[in-house]
Amino acid sequence: MCGIIGYIGTKQASNILVKGLKKLEYRGYDSAGIAILDKDILIYKQPGKVINLEESIDHQVENVTMGIAHTRWATHGEPTVDNAHPHTSNNGDIVLVHNGIIENYKFLKDELIEKGFSFEGQTDTEVLVNYIQLIQDEQGLSIEDAVKKALQNANGAYALAIIDKKEPNKMIVTRKGSPLAIGLTDSNDEFYVASDAIPIIEYTQSLVYLNDNEVVVLERGQKMKVTDIYGVEKSYKVKKIDLNLDKVSKGDYEHYMLKEIFEQPATIKNTLYSHLNHENSDIHFENLDELKEKLVNASRIIIVSCGTSWHAGIVGEYLIEELARIPVEVEYASEFRYRNPIITKDDIVMAISQSGETADTLAALRYSKAQGATTFSICNVFGSSMARECDFTAYTYAGAEIGVASTKAFTAQVAVVSLLAIQLGLERNQITQEKANSLVEELKTIPSVVNQIFATDDHIKKVAKNYTETTSFLFLGRGINFPIALEGALKLKEISYIHAEGYPAAEMKHGPIAMIEESLPTVIVATNNEYYDKLVSNAQEVKARKGPIVAVVNDDDTEMIQIADHVFKVPRVSDLLQPIVSVVPLQLFSYHVAVFKGCNVDQPRNLAKSVTVE
Ligand code: G6P
Repeated sequence: MCGIIGYIGTKQASNILVKGLKKLEYRGYDSAGIAILDKDILIYKQPGKVINLEESIDHQVENVTMGIAHTRWATHGEPTVDNAHPHTSNNGDIVLVHNGIIENYKFLKDELIEKGFSFEGQTDTEVLVNYIQLIQDEQGLSIEDAVKKALQNANGAYALAIIDKKEPNKMIVTRKGSPLAIGLTDSNDEFYVASDAIPIIEYTQSLVYLNDNEVVVLERGQKMKVTDIYGVEKSYKVKKIDLNLDKVSKGDYEHYMLKEIFEQPATIKNTLYSHLNHENSDIHFENLDELKEKLVNASRIIIVSCGTSWHAGIVGEYLIEELARIPVEVEYASEFRYRNPIITKDDIVMAISQSGETADTLAALRYSKAQGATTFSICNVFGSSMARECDFTAYTYAGAEIGVASTKAFTAQVAVVSLLAIQLGLERNQITQEKANSLVEELKTIPSVVNQIFATDDHIKKVAKNYTETTSFLFLGRGINFPIALEGALKLKEISYIHAEGYPAAEMKHGPIAMIEESLPTVIVATNNEYYDKLVSNAQEVKARKGPIVAVVNDDDTEMIQIADHVFKVPRVSDLLQPIVSVVPLQLFSYHVAVFKGCNVDQPRNLAKSVTVE
């Protein structure tokens, strides 16, 4: 979703800003823009890709050392030049970039129109920049104070970087609900601002993550100053970020998504070993001690998440209920808090999120915390809002995930939730130490099992070629592999724009079977033992109606292999651990279909990596 980058310092700003925008491209966007402060404010904006913007920038801006830039994911108004950020105030003095939504913008706009302001586009952001001007005009305030005053009357979410040409040595940044990081250098001569750490870390690893309602003044030669929107001074913590830049590049791979799929043996291993005691392989979640009792005695665990992380949540439900016998509910974060859910102080509300910034998940957590629940997150980004706000965070160690379609974050989430379920099972005396040990030992083999699947990639690619003209797919799974059917369908629609529906296999007869015909292939995840015969019957039902079948089966399969048109073989592991394995061929399948179709795999249309607005 929208990305912000800002620089104030001593170096040429536009190069830093454009380079930063390219690193934010993965977040998803449909237009881009930049504002630099020379004698006047110079603005360049283009619909489409950052490369269009880069080509439009005038080369006379070489000596300019301050600016702000933005990739916009359209919410209010189409992705046109007028709606692209940065937005300028009517008097031409103030310019800002914004990630988020000002919810009461219509009310503010009416007031501005009444007072003679005019608007070029339809965005809520253009309203905000003019509202700041109005406050300056009426109250004669500095930019810093005008921003604070304006934000006291603005509802909604924002991360903002603001420049006022009347105060050319300063940049104001602030956030509420949308992520923002500030990069500090040893001298106080330069500052970097961005929606996440990725564009900053090549310049500095010292980052400050702002809290909601904090307003920062960045001024060359001065220490960063932080207050809240009412002017009360705030302290801040500088974090050293250890993010390896090589890992944030595509390396020799054609796409980030492919690289990330192939990284999974390493990311699963990193994640597992980060939560295992090195000497005896006991499960150990750092800093959980205080909360352990609450978790072990929880009357219920409610998992809130979105997208792929929601699918990891369903795998978690099967695992925790089976091994620890704690009731689990898995909720779409976006639905959860709006239906007045019953939450008690004995509940654990667990967010699963790659980014730790998804607006709906964050809001669901905050809501639950306010109701007295203990909050827990499984999260991939250090220092993210969820990690900072939850009572406890168990990190996934998947590294930066750039491909919009989540792959390695999902398997890392499943790895963490597996360890958690085993640990809870043990603590609650629901499983024996032997059972726990054998599951942990088996989990440790998963990285090499995933590597074995990669040896079949050429076959998966060949199968994918048969389906590039297909317009619709059905994905079926049962038991703990049901969420893998959902995830397989989601991957395919995200990056190849082919309609795909994931269904519990037994539900097929209650609707989807009506769609089965020669042109509608069904992907059946048929690896688990308990339901295998039932899945074979489902496959027969599809075949009887001339539907083509692609099946994910175990290496030693004998029956499904006879029925399916194509099979993806995966090694057999315990049923409970099969999802982390079964998902891999489906990730590769959707990748290859999308590449054959010529789709933009890493930046699929309309999607954002991190959805920071509701
Ligand atoms: C977006 C991304 C998905 C992701 C979902 C939840 O829709 O495109 O890949 O699964 O958000 O994101 P989170 O960061 O909370 O896991």
